[in-house]
This record gives sequence, structure tokens and C-alpha cells, in this order.
Amino acid sequence: MNRRSFVLASAAAATTLPMHAAADNPVRVGVVGTGGRGTGLIRIASKIPGVAFPALCDINAQNLARAQDLVMSAGGAKPEGYTGEEDYRRLAARDDLDAVIIAAPWHWHTPMAVASMKAGKYTAIEVPAALTIDECRQLVDTHEETGTPCMMLENWSFRRDNLAVLTMIRAGLLGEINHCHCAHSHDCTYWYFDKEGNPRWSGEYLIKRNADQYPTHSLGPVLSWMDWNCGDYPAYLTATATRSISVPNYFRKKYGKDSPQAKRVLKQGDIVTSVVKTIKGNTLVINNDMQSPRPYDNRWEISGTEGVYNEQRNAVYIAGVSPKQDTWEPFEPYQHKYDHAWYKQLERDAPQAIRSQEGHGAPDFLELLLFTNAVRTKGPTPIDIYDSVLMCAPIHLSEQSIANGSAPVPFPDFTRGKWKTRKPHFGVVS
Ligand SMILES: NC(=O)c1ccc[n+]([C@@H]2O[C@H](COP(=O)([O-])OP(=O)(O)OC[C@H]3O[C@@H](n4cnc5c(N)ncnc54)[C@H](O)[C@@H]3O)[C@@H](O)[C@H]2O)c1
Repeated sequence: MNRRSFVLASAAAATTLPMHAAADNPVRVGVVGTGGRGTGLIRIASKIPGVAFPALCDINAQNLARAQDLVMSAGGAKPEGYTGEEDYRRLAARDDLDAVIIAAPWHWHTPMAVASMKAGKYTAIEVPAALTIDECRQLVDTHEETGTPCMMLENWSFRRDNLAVLTMIRAGLLGEINHCHCAHSHDCTYWYFDKEGNPRWSGEYLIKRNADQYPTHSLGPVLSWMDWNCGDYPAYLTATATRSISVPNYFRKKYGKDSPQAKRVLKQGDIVTSVVKTIKGNTLVINNDMQSPRPYDNRWEISGTEGVYNEQRNAVYIAGVSPKQDTWEPFEPYQHKYDHAWYKQLERDAPQAIRSQEGHGAPDFLELLLFTNAVRTKGPTPIDIYDSVLMCAPIHLSEQSIANGSAPVPFPDFTRGKWKTRKPHFGVVS
């Protein structure tokens, strides 16, 4: 990669530094939580020249040491290690850090991000940033009080196909948008339970909550496709959950029908379907399905008055443009024609990053490049706090709706009315 990558243009970094500034102006990042994802993020961000890791924090000494070794093997100095449960506060207070990335278990995300913003550090939080409406509000309030930028690292917002679809929507190809479907269907049984079938920290949530626990990967691209927070806003949500049979079935086969693992009662239904109605009158279906044996699937589809895009079919149909009436045409030529400016620039300046299989490939690299670029230029982050919390709100709202017989639950307005006048911002390149 050459240094031009650092001026990757974005709304976040409309005023970029000169290209030679990267080395003179390093971005110093502290990471809290160096487990699977935290380590992956360090590995990817280490490929961005000028990004340094002076300090890392993890209560697990082995995970911490592994991450310290990783930084050193990428050519960095040994980061100072913190191991206490509340040491994220000491890390955030360091005056040699510009930013903090949080990749700890979910219940730590909001308290850690609040501490980091209060310490004046640019903050990036792994998904989901918040678990309750109260936590969403804490993040917004702290951001507004401190003025410190904070973003959730929702990597699917940065997928190449999703960004091309955004460009198509903004060019008016689908007409006026009225409906969207999205899903996060991913068999994560291995991530919820350890090798003996005991719940990991993540599995504890399946025992105590019945909700769409992970709506951000489905919603990531949808927010900007549907102009949420900038012209439209979700009014209310209804949610319905299936019974909980997949995990017990999995453990029955593995350990026998009388095993404690098979008899464990989970609150979490296998599949949660939420329906959202927006103030403009549009609708969105969100599926969450993370315990069933099945291949990965996001099932994105978005439609408007002129056409429809379908991710599963990798196809589009545009009235009067597609060659055959009522017949899908391949998405590929549209992907090429409407490729987002971020990817055009990555293609020119960092083609190996696009081909990389590290993490989830290009989207992970792009989100970290844009985040560190925002830190370096002191600009806004590519995903702002309002979009971050709106992607998390369905967790609590779906839980409330399910508990009340699928009753509609209103979305709080985290923008305090600003969604009516805010202009589209995500992915807008000046
Ligand atoms: N965006 C993505 O594609 C993606 C992929 C995987 C995971 N994630 C998210 O990343 C986060 C971490 O998931 P993971 O799979 O890496 O989990 P993990 O269990 O592998 O790692 C969590 C780490 O946090 C540490 N930790 C716990 N409490 C801590 C504390 N008080 N202070 C410091 N460290 C603490 C643990 O010791 C562990 O090393 C989750 O929010 C998860 O949802 C996102």
C-alpha cells in the first residue's frame, strides 16, 4: 500500500492531511479486549502505516500476551499491558493515546466507551455498541457532552456490494424506496458454547434474553439505504420469536438426551423476525437466526418504485431498464458501474487489502482505515453515534415486543428531531 491510501476520501475526512503526513502524525490506538476479534482487528490495523499500539488491555493474560506478540511481530514496540477488570479506565486516561478500540464482551461495551469518550479518546466499539435503550442514551449523551467522536465497527456497512447498492439508490435507480429485508443468519453455536457445551459469556445471553440479539450486521447497510437518521426514522417495531429447539437438539445429538447440556433451558427462540414501520411509511423485515445449523446468509433485498436489488440472487430488476420484463438480471455490471469511490481508491492504492482474507477481508480493512483516518484528521467517524445506537436499539425493542405478544414498541428518537433535517452522511464522498 502506498501513502495515498491515507487520504481515502470520505465525508469523515473531507479535509485530509497531505499524503506525506501519515508517518509524521501517527495514530496511537489502545485496544481493550484482545480475544478473537480484538486480535483480528489489531492484525488488520497493523497493516495501516502509521498506526501504533502503545497499550492493550485484557483480563486474560494469555490473550494479552498473544496480542502484544502480534504487535511486536508486525514491527511495533511492545505495548504496555493492563490486566485488571477496570483497567480500561487507566488505559483510556493515558496521554499517549489518540483512540481506543473496544472488543470486549457485550456488557462492557457501553461503560468502556463512556470512559473512553470522557477521556477524550476517539472511540470505536465492536458490535453491538449497546444492549439496552438506556445504554444507547448513555452513548449519545456522553458523545454530546464531550464532543468525542464514537463509532460502532459495523463492518457490513463497508461491504463492496452494499456500498454499490447505496450508490445506485442515491442515483435513483430503484426509485423511491418503500421496503427492505435483511437477516443475520449465522450458526454461532460454537461461539456461544465452549467445547464441553458450557455457555461462554455470549451464551449467557441466550439463557437470559429472548430478542434479536445481533441486529447490527443485518442493519448496517440498510440504515443508509433507507435514509434512517437523515429524512426517515423507524417509528415502531414488532417482533416474534420461534420456540427454542435448535440448541437442545444440537446437544442431544452430541451428549445424549439426558445430558445437562441438552436439558438446559434457553429463553432465546431460534429465529426472531422483527418488522419495522418507519415514519415515512416504509417497512423493514429483520431476521435473526444464530443457533440453527445453516450456511451464512444476510438475505438483503431492497425495493422501490422503479426496481429491486436482491443479494441472495446477486441480481437486480429495474423497470424499463432490465432487458426482459419480470426477469432478474445479474448484479455484476451494476457493481462495476456503481462501485463506491472508497473501493475505487482502494483498488488503485491498496489492491492487496481488497483481496486479503484477513478478518472479513476488505470491509474490515476499510472500516479501520476510515476510523484511523478520522482520528488522524480529527474529523467525524464514518459511522456516527446516532447510526451506531439505532442499529442496536432493536435488541431491547424486540425483547419488549416478544415479551408482550408481539406488541408494537416505539423507537426512541436518539437524534432529538434532527433526523428530519440531517443530510445523508454515510459514504458521502466530497
Ligand atoms: N464485527 C464482526 O464481524 C465481529 C466478529 C466477531 C466478534 N465480534 C464482536 O467482538 C466482540 C468480542 O468478541 P470475541 O469473539 O472476540 O470474544 P472473545 O471472548 O474471544 O474476546 C473477548 C476478550 O475480552 C476480554 N475481556 C473480558 N472482560 C474484560 C475486561 N473487563 N477488560 C478487558 N478485557 C476483557 C476477554 O478476556 C477476551 O479476551 C463482541 O462484541 C463480538 O460480538 C464482531
